[in-house]
Amino acid sequence: MQELKEKESVNIKFENFIDTKEGEDLFDKATRLDDVLSSGVLTGNEALGMVTMNKVQPESEIREKDGSIHEVIMLGSNSYLNLSTHPQVMQGAREALEKFGYGMGAVSNYAGITDIHKELEKRIAKFYGTEDAIVFPSGYGANIGIVSALCGKNDVIINDAANHASIFDGCVLSGADIKVFPHRDMKGLERILSRIPAEQTGRLIITDGVFSMDGDMAPLDEIVALAQKYNCRIMIDDAHGVGVVGPTGRGTAEHYGVMDKIDLHVGMLSKGPGGLGGYCASSRKIVQYLRLYARSYFFSTALPASVAGGLNEVFKLLEEDKAGRNQLWDNTNYLKQKLVEKGFDIGHSSSAVVPVMVYSEPILFEMYDKLRKRGVYVNIVTYPAVRRKECRLRLCTMKDLTFDQIDRAVEIISELGREYGLIK
Ligand SMILES: Cc1ncc(COP(=O)(O)O)c(C=O)c1O
Repeated sequence: MQELKEKESVNIKFENFIDTKEGEDLFDKATRLDDVLSSGVLTGNEALGMVTMNKVQPESEIREKDGSIHEVIMLGSNSYLNLSTHPQVMQGAREALEKFGYGMGAVSNYAGITDIHKELEKRIAKFYGTEDAIVFPSGYGANIGIVSALCGKNDVIINDAANHASIFDGCVLSGADIKVFPHRDMKGLERILSRIPAEQTGRLIITDGVFSMDGDMAPLDEIVALAQKYNCRIMIDDAHGVGVVGPTGRGTAEHYGVMDKIDLHVGMLSKGPGGLGGYCASSRKIVQYLRLYARSYFFSTALPASVAGGLNEVFKLLEEDKAGRNQLWDNTNYLKQKLVEKGFDIGHSSSAVVPVMVYSEPILFEMYDKLRKRGVYVNIVTYPAVRRKECRLRLCTMKDLTFDQIDRAVEIISELGREYGLIK
């Protein structure tokens, strides 16, 4: 551990690769980054993207940068319910592909939308019990489009500090006054709310439902009470909650019994649903407004019909709670129990996202490489997704993993955990 701490100052270069330095050409920053990467020095997330997936299943094949292919136990996919390869879902996608081809060729408000897309929006609205829903071609685009359409310079947006980057990007784009409270800190939230000037009446609280890097949930019951007290609207991004948490898999708001108190139910079609895209379920008027003012919807080509066709089958399964949520939870609980027994710090996850805290980037990068080579694929998370000193492995469970695969993965993670002093 000590040795690696010392290496930290040598091997990692926290250089600013974003700002153009005085006298530099606009593109010089790319050369600076290339120089650092090719010298073998780690810079953070820039060291990622080294492997490709040959398939994404509980036992997956990956291709390393040197071209070698090997098997790994997959703990790095957000396709928690394995719906991207579900036969019924693939059949839905196939039928839409045959009918409409592989791309839509136009934005939704022009020629890009089909009955299949419309059906998907209806199914999402029904799932949340709202009047309507709008589907965006990407989850990232959904957040930036929704926030920047609804909020402007006269408004204030109050964010949990751990909200997803796309929410913060939407806030910046909106030009609104941006406030941030410490992660899940309700006293901090109330402190901000109590200081908002009375004349600033356009107020939106935004929180992830399940937080993507910690796997914990926003205390929505308390957030709803504060929103009511201070006359705020609420948007939740439940990217990692949909299909996973709540008594029938309707997400974090269902878990807290506040489904009808959320103004904007935002979610991603790319995680539990296993496809692509993002959505907002809300009132008829808000959805109508977003169709005309959310620029990432208005100016971006619609989701391929094949994806929408697959997602219609996904929502049939989710509606009846037949997507395998219980099996996913058995695996998730099993993984967490095994990691805790080994002595790892896994934070406070209430979802299928399980962090394993590492707290040192050199150890993190080395573990990432060694885990892959020994047959376990996990994601690593550091700046800018979290603070460098809170860097971690991020494990995601899947419904189709077996206990045997989880046992094997935990053994390998533990061997390395001991090697690096994370556990005894
Ligand atoms: C909480 C959250 N919101 C939004 C997104 C963006 O979704 P997508 O990857 O579908 O664009 C992600 C995914 O990274 C996420 O974790």
